[in-house]
Amino acid sequence: MAHQTVIILDFGGQYNQLIARRVRECGVYCEVKSYTTPLAELRRMEPIGFILTGGPNSVYLETSPHVDPEIFSMGVPVLGICYGCQLMAHTLGGKVAAAQSDSAREYGKTETFYDASCPLFKGLPETGVSWMSHGDYMERVPEGFTLAARSKACPNVAIADVERGFYGVQYHPEVRHTENGVAMIRNFLYEICGAAGDWTMGDYKRTAVAAIREKVGGGRVLLALSGGVDSSVCAALLAEAVGEQLTCVFVDHGLMRKNEGDEVQAAFQNWAMNFVRVDAEDRFLGRLAGVSEPEQKRRIIGEEFIRVFEEEARRIGSVDFLAQGTIYPDVIESGAGDAAVIKSHHNVGGLPDCVDFKEIIEPLRLLFKDEVRQLGRELGLPEYLVSRQPFPGPGLAIRVIGDLTREKLYALREADAVYREEIASAGLDRAVSQYFAVLTNTRSVGVMGDGRTYDYTLALRAVTTSDFMTADWARIPYDVLDRVSTRIVNEVPGINRICYDITSKPPATVEWE
Ligand code: XMP
Repeated sequence: MAHQTVIILDFGGQYNQLIARRVRECGVYCEVKSYTTPLAELRRMEPIGFILTGGPNSVYLETSPHVDPEIFSMGVPVLGICYGCQLMAHTLGGKVAAAQSDSAREYGKTETFYDASCPLFKGLPETGVSWMSHGDYMERVPEGFTLAARSKACPNVAIADVERGFYGVQYHPEVRHTENGVAMIRNFLYEICGAAGDWTMGDYKRTAVAAIREKVGGGRVLLALSGGVDSSVCAALLAEAVGEQLTCVFVDHGLMRKNEGDEVQAAFQNWAMNFVRVDAEDRFLGRLAGVSEPEQKRRIIGEEFIRVFEEEARRIGSVDFLAQGTIYPDVIESGAGDAAVIKSHHNVGGLPDCVDFKEIIEPLRLLFKDEVRQLGRELGLPEYLVSRQPFPGPGLAIRVIGDLTREKLYALREADAVYREEIASAGLDRAVSQYFAVLTNTRSVGVMGDGRTYDYTLALRAVTTSDFMTADWARIPYDVLDRVSTRIVNEVPGINRICYDITSKPPATVEWE
């Protein structure tokens, strides 16, 4: 796949994937590489530009991540963002130091004045708000650089060496709070790197289909299809590429939302490929009976899933390729090291040890989630599958708090369906990133008609987030919540009280278990 490539060198900043998404939204392919990537490998990628990301360190410390100075001799433009800007200044002979006064340290929205004659700001307004987050200060800029933007506190908010194509900005153009930030990234790509804009999903589909055909030849491919966005798009892409050579196994663990299993089947059973639905509800519920500890639930579901899939694979016979819907955020090796594991996520798909196959294929491993959705649309998948909100692998098992019973699952499924229906009919399903009901393990007294009830409390959760690492609780209008509450207590047996979860993440998580 010969796309022009921009390399994003990752120094551990929190917005690095966002930078990559912005570049791709501008129609230019990019990859995020750790700053430790050997120069030879970077050269082999023949980049048309580099972006050096932000990061939590100070460049003047010996122990901080550095960049091979050779990248500045490759004749390729470089944009340094925040730490990346200071690193470029430091590496090319400037001086960076800790800001002496509070006024030189800048955090948050800052009024910024740009030099519109600088190619990075071409065609853009001369003033605007930029989003700063730096405690260090460039005391001296390197030779050859001029000052291209300033704020009230800082004379060198942006620096430029137009001749060599080196640009540095102290603020974060990738975040929405920076006015015209994306336009600046676009200018870097098109005005400075000379990008052709050759990254589109239509193109990607054609080249990916050809690449899969070439790799698979006459071989057989097996895919675990969960009905989530990634595995669905993976299935559609593979079906387009190799048709009947593909078998998709959909393990229905009985922990899906209302009608979901049937929807997945309806979406795929008529494609030109082999679709197998395994009804494993009894097995899963049997193994989960009496289990209330969340991590144990996850473990059991993960293990059982692999067992069912393995049995099915044996029935199918020998396969050559095991396909997985891995996407780019799972692949990126961050320059910042490992993050703490809060919950053990079980994602249907990660099964390399259990089935006899020759090779793994991951046709989505270079795509971000938004791109996967776009590709799904290109392939003709229905919108409800493509724009589906995330749903955890262990399904409703981790939304029934405590031990699982069929009755509790039924109540949760019905209540969740009402909630989703009302959110959709209020037109909020796009504005809210994820929303679902949780059946708590608390029972309380209520009164219905003339009788006393002693039933379960249902919690409603709705969050807005861009990355699911942090999330805010969604401000759902009271009248919508009121409708949901009234409908659920009237329509769903076993629930007599509704609460709305108003915690963000952190300190809470999105799911309750
Ligand atoms: P948390 O609860 O960790 O959730 O804040 C963040 C996002 O991940 C989803 N999630 C899971 N996805 N297997 C999955 O595939 C899991 O075990 C799992 N647990 C949480 C959650 O729905 C949210 O989108």
